[in-house]
Amino acid sequence: MQDVNIRNIKRLEELRKKLELKGLDGALICKRENYRYFSGFTGTLAYIIVTSEKAYLLTDSRYVTQAASQAPFFEIIRIQGDALPFICDVVKEQGIKALGFEETFVTYDFYVKLKTKLGKTELFPLLDIPDEMRAVKDDGEIEAIRKSVEIADRAFEYILAYIRPGIREYEIAAEIEHFMRESGAQGPSFETIVASGWRSSLPHGVASDRRIEKGDMVILDYGAVFEGYCSDITRTVFVGGADSKKLEIYNTVLEAQKRAIERIREGLYSKEIDGVARQHIADAGYGENFGHGLGHGVGLEIHEQPRVSPYSNCKLVRNMVFTVEPGIYIEGFGGVRIEDIVVVKEDGAEILTKAEKAPVIV
Ligand code: CO
Ligand code: CO
Repeated sequence: MQDVNIRNIKRLEELRKKLELKGLDGALICKRENYRYFSGFTGTLAYIIVTSEKAYLLTDSRYVTQAASQAPFFEIIRIQGDALPFICDVVKEQGIKALGFEETFVTYDFYVKLKTKLGKTELFPLLDIPDEMRAVKDDGEIEAIRKSVEIADRAFEYILAYIRPGIREYEIAAEIEHFMRESGAQGPSFETIVASGWRSSLPHGVASDRRIEKGDMVILDYGAVFEGYCSDITRTVFVGGADSKKLEIYNTVLEAQKRAIERIREGLYSKEIDGVARQHIADAGYGENFGHGLGHGVGLEIHEQPRVSPYSNCKLVRNMVFTVEPGIYIEGFGGVRIEDIVVVKEDGAEILTKAEKAPVIV
């Protein structure tokens, strides 16, 4: 039996335990990353229904064959037209009384129709069952993320030779994405950020038509998707040189990141990790210039659990994977962000990202 299938069986077993604890006798899962996680099915349309004994995967004619091979432990049901009557048939046949659903994903319209059609079956939010499960990665997932990070690392090395005055931000973005695709990525994991000069003070400045100038700081923030898993890396490079103020900001961000990563271990709250970086940046006088959270989980989605911010209330567990990405942004001057992906270990963190972090001048 394939490893992939064994992992899916384990996940289903865990899901069933969690459903039972919440008093639910079934779950309806419609979000792509979630049905993929539990079933192994990678197509773009499916609904899975899991009960204590059974598992169904509903999809349309395009995917019936693929679903049968990727999700051998699911009974495949072919949907024709509206999925709702097919979903309701399964729920009724199985006598599900309390059905969990993804309250932050399904539309209001779908919810109302489902509720009306189901009649006596009650609907309950799944809360964060799928998200919490997905936050802790198994070995296969970590391997996929590792490869995805490797592609992003190599793209950084590659792009350094390409960045020079006169080139437009979107040309750099296209070049990075092309390189990653040729290296085996399924695509970029989000819209590539290339923010140069004054634009580097925009924490999420997606590539524009601005031309690179000598003296710019350029923030490159991008990632690949490999076997469904995302990577996410940020590096900030200097064009033609760097003055002392720019280097001071760079080194402050780098030190904040280093200290935060050093603090990571199982059992700590993620906000403590955020606090380490935030404190260092504040002590250097840039507290007002670091507005976003320190990091986020990465996996099938580019942003997932755990959140690493002053507001998150999440305890770190071994094999959680997340980014550590402090930044300093000064309007009209520019900004620096450095982002790595780490895996939580019992007594530390493994840094997956290997791209150069000493200041790079192109
Ligand atoms: Co990023
Ligand atoms: Co990120």
